[in-house]
Amino acid sequence: MKWFESWFNSKYYHILYQKRDHSEAALFIDNILKTFQPGKNTKFLDLGCGSGRHSIYLNQKGFHVDGFDLSKKSLEEAKKKENNKLKFYQKDMRNFTVNKKYDFVLNLFTSFGYFENDSDNKNVFKNISKSLKTNGYCIIDFFNTEKVVNQIQKNEIKKINNIIFNIHKTYDENFIYKKISITDKKNKYNFTEKVRLINKQKFINYASGLNMDLEFSFGDYNLAKYNTELSDRLILIFKKTA
Ligand SMILES: C[S@@+](CC[C@H](N)C(=O)[O-])C[C@H]1O[C@@H](n2cnc3c(N)ncnc32)[C@H](O)[C@@H]1O
Repeated sequence: MKWFESWFNSKYYHILYQKRDHSEAALFIDNILKTFQPGKNTKFLDLGCGSGRHSIYLNQKGFHVDGFDLSKKSLEEAKKKENNKLKFYQKDMRNFTVNKKYDFVLNLFTSFGYFENDSDNKNVFKNISKSLKTNGYCIIDFFNTEKVVNQIQKNEIKKINNIIFNIHKTYDENFIYKKISITDKKNKYNFTEKVRLINKQKFINYASGLNMDLEFSFGDYNLAKYNTELSDRLILIFKKTA
């Protein structure tokens, strides 16, 4: 099993990130909706949807949303909120096909860059391009590699529900690693998140040759302009041209 298959599906991932911010997701989606003013029949695909915090909010705003994720555990949670305009499916972003085209494909909160082989990242972009209508948008929300590396906080300890999470971060020229050592009563577990360090130019390279032009680069959920050194996020919006 790859790390992203076991970790995102483990109960400890859900405990560590249980306070994941729903108001932050709502703020981001509100700002996207203000910017693009999509009509009521707009169809969204949330790729790497997790438990569906963005999908559910978009659906509450009246839109059609499909969410794809690998993690059964996250999907079980998301599926509780399904309705005729909100559906969740277990699919792998590296090799999925769709039977309809979307106005927006979202990949939010660093749901990218997990794969050992860089060609899989290109495959994700190919699948996104195939899933988009002409003039549709792909929204990628990733961490800002430059800032994360410059300001890396190497060690952190968190205690949640009497479980101790010891987190140690390092990086090399290709990846950032987050080693998570867990002590739960007498049991110990280890997981390592491994995410590729992808900058703006690299994302543009993934999109090249796929009829996807970069239209906007934002640096946070308020959609402030992206700044390489200062921004917390790297939010890139590509438009499908043909
Ligand atoms: C950091 S979480 C973000 C989840 C969600 N977007 C959010 O903001 O709450 C990344 C998600 O990507 C999913 N994921 C990882 N690899 C995947 C793959 N190959 N195909 C589909 N989803 C994947 C994980 O299961 C996890 O739910």
